[in-house]
Amino acid sequence: MRLSGKVAIITGAASGMGKAIAELFAAEGAKVVVSDLRVEAAQTVVTEIESKGGTGIAIAANVAKEEDVQQLVDTTVKQFGILDILVNNAGIMDNFVPAAELTDELWERIFAINTTGPMRTTRKVLPIFMEKKKGVIVNIASAGGLQGSRAGAAYTASKHAVVGFTKNVGFQYATLGIRCNAIAPGGVNTNIGTTINSPNPFGMERAMAGMNLNPRSGDPEEIAKVALFLASDDSSFVNGTVVAADAGWMAY
Ligand SMILES: NC(=O)c1ccc[n+]([C@@H]2O[C@H](COP(=O)([O-])OP(=O)(O)OC[C@H]3O[C@@H](n4cnc5c(N)ncnc54)[C@H](O)[C@@H]3O)[C@@H](O)[C@H]2O)c1
Repeated sequence: MRLSGKVAIITGAASGMGKAIAELFAAEGAKVVVSDLRVEAAQTVVTEIESKGGTGIAIAANVAKEEDVQQLVDTTVKQFGILDILVNNAGIMDNFVPAAELTDELWERIFAINTTGPMRTTRKVLPIFMEKKKGVIVNIASAGGLQGSRAGAAYTASKHAVVGFTKNVGFQYATLGIRCNAIAPGGVNTNIGTTINSPNPFGMERAMAGMNLNPRSGDPEEIAKVALFLASDDSSFVNGTVVAADAGWMAY
C-alpha cells in the first residue's frame, strides 16, 4: 500500500476525478477526507470506501469560501491528528465565454473556485507541512492551463494561474520537505459537462477547433493513478512541475 497511514484531503471529491482519487487513495491505505459542496454525494463516496474496508469522512466545503477552507483543514486535523496530502481538484467550466463577452461576475466566480480555492487551501496546509517537514500538494490543472483555447478565457486564465502557483510553491518550499505538482488532464469523462449550461457559440466553436486532434478521452481512474504517483514517495524527485495526462493531445 503506497499511502499507508497517510491522511489526504481531496476537494470536489463527490464526483469525477476527485471521487476516483479518493477511492484509489483509500484503497492504498490513506485516510481520506472526501470534501465537496455536495456533502450528501460526498457521504455516498465515503460509504462506498468504507464498504471496501477503507477509512474516510465527508466534509462539506465550498473552496471559494475562506471559512469553509479553515473548517475543512481544522476538522481534518482534529479527526485524524495530522495531514499529509492535499489534492486541489474542485473546479468548474466557464461556458466557453470568449474575452469580448466576459463579465466580471463570471471571471470572478471561475477564479474564486479554480484558483483562489487552491491558493487558500495551500496557504492553510503549508504551516502544517512545514512543521513536520513533509507534505504533498497535487493540483488538478488542465490542458487549458497549458494551451490557449481548450475552454473560455476565464477558465484558461484560471488554470494557467494554477500552473504558475504550482511552480512557485513547489520551488519555494522544496527545501522544507514539501512538494507541489499539477496534473493537466485532457478530456476526461466526468460530470463537469453539467457546469456548461449555456455554451457561448463563438467561444465553443473556437475551443472545439482542435477536438479532432484529441486521440481519445480518458476515464477518471486514469487521472487518479497519476495523482497517486504524485502523492506518494514514488515521485520523491518530482516537484514544481505539470504532468500532462491527455493521451498525447497536447503533443501535436
Ligand atoms: N473533465 C475534464 O475533461 C477535465 C479536463 C481538465 C481538467 N479538469 C479539471 O478536473 C477537476 C475535476 O473536475 P471533474 O471533471 O472531475 O468534474 P466533476 O464535475 O465530475 O466533479 C467536480 C466536483 O467538484 C465539486 N465542486 C464544484 N464547485 C465546488 C466548490 N466551489 N467547492 C467544492 N467543491 C466544488 C462538484 O460538486 C463536483 O462534485 C476540475 O478542476 C476541472 O477543471 C477536468
